[in-house]
Parts: sequence; C-alpha cells; structure tokens
Amino acid sequence: MDHFLYRDGVLHAEDVPIPEIAASVGTPFYVYSTATLLRHYHLFNDALDGTDHLVCYAMKAASNQAILKTLAQAGAGMDVVSGGEYLRAKAVGVPGDRIVFSGVGKTAAEIRLALEGGIRQFNVESEPEMEVLNATALSMGVVAPITIRVNPDVDAKTHAKIATGKSENKFGIPIARTREVYAMAAAMPGLDVIGIDVHIGSQLTDLAPFELAYQKVAELTELLRAEGHDIRRLDLGGGLGIPYTRDNQAPPLPSDYGALVKRTLGHLGCEIEIEPGRLIAGNAGLMVSEVIYVKSGEDRDFLIIDGAMNDLIRPAMYEAYHDIVPVVEADPGAEQVKFDIVGPVCESGDTFAKERMMPPVAAGELVAFRSAGAYGAVMSSEYNSRPLIPEVLVQKDQFAVIRRRPTFDEMINRDTIPEWL
Ligand code: LLP
Repeated sequence: MDHFLYRDGVLHAEDVPIPEIAASVGTPFYVYSTATLLRHYHLFNDALDGTDHLVCYAMKAASNQAILKTLAQAGAGMDVVSGGEYLRAKAVGVPGDRIVFSGVGKTAAEIRLALEGGIRQFNVESEPEMEVLNATALSMGVVAPITIRVNPDVDAKTHAKIATGKSENKFGIPIARTREVYAMAAAMPGLDVIGIDVHIGSQLTDLAPFELAYQKVAELTELLRAEGHDIRRLDLGGGLGIPYTRDNQAPPLPSDYGALVKRTLGHLGCEIEIEPGRLIAGNAGLMVSEVIYVKSGEDRDFLIIDGAMNDLIRPAMYEAYHDIVPVVEADPGAEQVKFDIVGPVCESGDTFAKERMMPPVAAGELVAFRSAGAYGAVMSSEYNSRPLIPEVLVQKDQFAVIRRRPTFDEMINRDTIPEWL
C-alpha cells in the first residue's frame, strides 16, 4: 500500500496534488511519500517484534539524506556499501553502532573511515578482505566486529543481474569453506567474530529461497558454536520483493517474512539484523514526467516523454516493469490505447514500455511511474548531458525539494580544460 492516490481525478502524493509539485520544480522529478516510507519500515520492525533485532535500511535503494533522516528518526539502522554511503549516514546523525558495512570490495581507506567513525559490524566477504581489515584495525589499535557473509548456494529465482546467493556469484564465501574461514578469522587479533551474514538476492517474490538459506544459517550457527565461535548476531540481508504490477501477484508480506525468520532462527537466541531496501523505498516514490510529443508510428504511437533512461534505468537494464499512469485520471469509460513509452536519449534502449495499454494522453500532460522510489534516483546519470532530476519529499500537505535540479552551468562547469588546449 502507498500514499499516491487519485483525489477528484488528480494523482496526489499524500495531500499534495502532483501537478502542484510539477509547477513548482519542473519535470521530470522524483517524489517520495514520508508516510509510505515509515509504513514500510514499521511493517518490518513490527514483523520482528519479540526478537532482539535491528532493521538496517539498505540505503543503496534511495540515499537522499532526507529519506535517511526520516527512517533514522523512526529507529532504523543503515546498511552501507561504500565510504560515501557511510558518510551520508553519519551526516544525518546515524550513530556508528547502527551502521553495518556490506560489500565485496571495501578498500582499506573505506575500512579506516568506518573504524574511525564507529561501526556496528563489517560484513566480510573474503579472506583477503579479512586480512586488510585485521591489519587496519591493528594499526589503529582497535578491534573490528565482523560477521562473515556465507554464500548458501540457493537459487533466489529472481533476475540474473540481482541474484547473489548462487555459488557462481561473486558474493560471500562458499558455504563448504565456512569452518576454515571462521577459524582463520578467530585467529586474527584485530577481529571480533560475532556472527553470520547472508543475502541471496533482490526482488524475491517467494519465501522458499529465504527459507532454504535461513535453514542453512541455522545449521551453520550450531556448527560454528560447537567449534567455539560465539555466534550471537545474524544478518539476514534484504531482498523481499514488491508488487510492480497491479495484478494479484503480490509478494509475501513482511509479516510472513518475519514469521519465517522466527520459525527458522528464533530458537538460536541470536540478535537479528535485516537489510531491506526496495520494500521500504520502492513504492514510496514516483518519477513524474511530461509528455513532449505523441508521435505516430507504423503500427503504434510513441509517447515521447521528458524523462529518460538516464533518470530511471531499471527498464533498460533489467527489463523492469513500472506501472505508468496519467496524473489526471482518465474518464472511467475512456478507451485504452497502445503506446511505446520512450525518452529522448539517442538509443533504442531508452524505452520504458513497449505496447503498453493505457488511457490516451496528449502532449503537455503528466505521467507518473509507480514503484520508482528504490533504485531510481540513485542509479541516475547525466548521460546525454541531462542534469540529474530533482527529488521532492512530501509529508501530509507539505512538500520540500530535497535535491534541487542543477543548472546547466553547474553541470558543464564541473569539467576542466587542460592548459594545453
Ligand atoms: N543487502 C545487500 C548486501 C544487498 O546487496 C542488497 C541489494 C540489499 C541488502 C537490499 O536488497 P533489497 O531489499 O533492496 O532487495 N538495482 C537493482 C537492485 C540491486 C540490489 C543490490 N543489492 C534493481 O533496480 O532492481
């Protein structure tokens, strides 16, 4: 459920009409709903009620500081994957002991940054990383808390580019080598081995792969404890999917997921961490764009809009489906027409939807991409010298620009010309 509903035929973000925002900031833009962000965070938090837990928002999904602050004030921790994300989380006041550092290629500089600023734990992904972490911690006279990410070799049954839990993926250590790698870590004086980490992929629409992975984590916990490791924290990753379409194919709810976590791991008495990103931010954001032209093709019409693949790359990159709706609601009886919905970028991949049936829209009208809050703005670029589009946050009847659109000069003047030219 989200807070983007039609009222009197006009799409609203909470209590703010979308056309009002468009008139103020121009198109295209991203808009997020505070109530939806909070609702999704609380669904997870409540789902783990009764267990010692922390919901660490995977901020790679949408990392604007206003979003981070909204969630942090509600009690969320953060899952970060780079020095930049770490500093963003710190910039809004998230304490180090609520930040977990994930990622397969942390550099020594990033590790140092986090050890200096404080960190809940590093989720370590390889032996060489472990060695760098140990050496860095020792050189600073501190001990780094770690979990080790195991790759459970489970098929997440999601898009190949976002599946991470199979043995052919680059993530984690192979489950067969767990004992050896934990023994190695335990022997390193700069490391405190506190738990196990697992993340099998993103946009999972079925609980079965989670169940398989978490059963393996439960077995591993007992095995490692028997070997003398004090396993007291389990980081279970993110990955629960969201409904991108309006049919009845809704993925499992966070409450079902929470029940599964308790059923498979509850008896171990460990502290539980989860790292949801998409389910918190995805349906809490829209991308709004204006139709520039309606161009007649041979067997279809093209809706050429002012948003493009550089603003929202998911359709081009993952063949992702986003619901695209007119901001001014069509008459109930309006006939659906077939459009290819495309942006102005000079490649055919700049296509958001092919043969999409929707109510007729004309040049100058607004359309909204639903479920664009996660992996939307954060994956955007300035391809074709198109400035990054603004982000807006709504709370009830107020809205604020949380990242403004740069001017052309700001974009262009970042380049420097060598003296010899
Ligand atoms: N934890 C780790 C270690 C991750 O790698 C990810 C996502 C998450 C948590 C959060 O997963 P989520 O709850 O959001 O599914 N750009 C792609 C998605 C990439 C996901 C990468 N890792 C997309 O637009 O679909």
